[in-house]
Amino acid sequence: MAFHKINVTINNELEQVVVPSNMTLMQMLRESLALTGTKNGCSAGECGACTVMLNGEPLNSCMVLAVECDGANIVTVEGLAGDKQLDPIQEAIIEAGGVQCGFCTPGILISSRAFLNRNPSPSEEEIREALVGNLCRCTGYMRIIEAVKKAASLKVVASSMASD
Ligand code: FES
Ligand code: FES
Repeated sequence: MAFHKINVTINNELEQVVVPSNMTLMQMLRESLALTGTKNGCSAGECGACTVMLNGEPLNSCMVLAVECDGANIVTVEGLAGDKQLDPIQEAIIEAGGVQCGFCTPGILISSRAFLNRNPSPSEEEIREALVGNLCRCTGYMRIIEAVKKAASLKVVASSMASD
């Protein structure tokens, strides 16, 4: 088995990691870096529990080899909150009651944040489409969708206040 030294920026920190050729990004995050907020639901690209942002785009980290991420910028759920403040999507999902067992939540938060960065004022249909790859067995999705709507509206309020 070959090993590779890679440099990645994870949650704004530069990391140098030695990874075997067959290690996935999900395994590197969880096993090499102890970033266990990224969940392993299926290891097969079907549940979205392992979603992280890679260079700003959400993707299933179980479907990418760690060695392919050399030089990449990665954001995991651990990197969403600021020093003392949750991301608006984190606040909104708590307020909406969109967390039950919580297993899907990190992936949903990352997919939602990446989506809202691209589309700050989405329709409900666009939100549903953005989250189609994130499965949740508990909430029935309505509260999650409400949370994304709420986070979008908070951002509108925040930016309109900033321009006053
Ligand atoms: S663990 Fe990656 S999609 Fe399910
Ligand atoms: S809250 Fe349990 S799987 Fe989504």
